[in-house]
Amino acid sequence: MSFVVAIDGPAGSGKGTVTELVGNRLGLVNIDTGAMFRCVTLAMLRQNIETSETEKIEKLLEEIKIELVKENQVQKVFLNSEDVSKEIRENAVNNFVSEVSTLKVVRDKLLKLQRQVAEGKDVIMEGRDIGTAVFPNADVKIYLDATPEERARRRVLQNQEKGIASTYEEALENVKTRDKIDSSRSIAPLTRAEDAIYIDSTNMEISEVVDEVCKIIEEKDYAKNEI
Ligand code: DC
Repeated sequence: MSFVVAIDGPAGSGKGTVTELVGNRLGLVNIDTGAMFRCVTLAMLRQNIETSETEKIEKLLEEIKIELVKENQVQKVFLNSEDVSKEIRENAVNNFVSEVSTLKVVRDKLLKLQRQVAEGKDVIMEGRDIGTAVFPNADVKIYLDATPEERARRRVLQNQEKGIASTYEEALENVKTRDKIDSSRSIAPLTRAEDAIYIDSTNMEISEVVDEVCKIIEEKDYAKNEI
């Protein structure tokens, strides 16, 4: 039996950080599905493949290997065995990833991979459509939100920590553009599942969000199952 926590929300809502901290605290395997879409995007950029070139994308999807590995409590992302953890967060990928994630071939492939990596494990999976499409029967569903301005502010700080240069204006523009594409695409758009618990983190510290999410999960008996 596996236990699934789905965390959905827009770009920069804090899903990544919250998912990692909650996963570490409760012993859940942390799966960042955005990183998978970012890997496909990076591979397309490297091979100069455009979103209209379906056959080339299908071939690429058959060939690429995406792995999420935890090393010393830090999540690393490998594309064909190469560590691309930093490169997938750069602007070139940021600006193209939402468009790539509207493609049916890409979503179909990654949907399978997401279900596969969670098989038989207790997981906390973050993305845009986890509670609506990937695991509609997830044990816990959370929709994490914050204003676009706050999300852009956080993105700039995060980038600074990672040594990636970006301005607030750039980050805000990127957040708004991605919100629009992610919520309006025809397949599995970003939307709050009816049974998801809504958390607005705009005025919350990360530690408060983590406590709140852990409380919700523990109330669903996860901790008791573990003991
Ligand atoms: O969470 P993130 O910013 O790393 O996600 C990058 C992009 O991937 C995001 O703009 C939309 C797409 N995505 C998606 O369509 N479905 C998911 N489950 C996760 C991400």
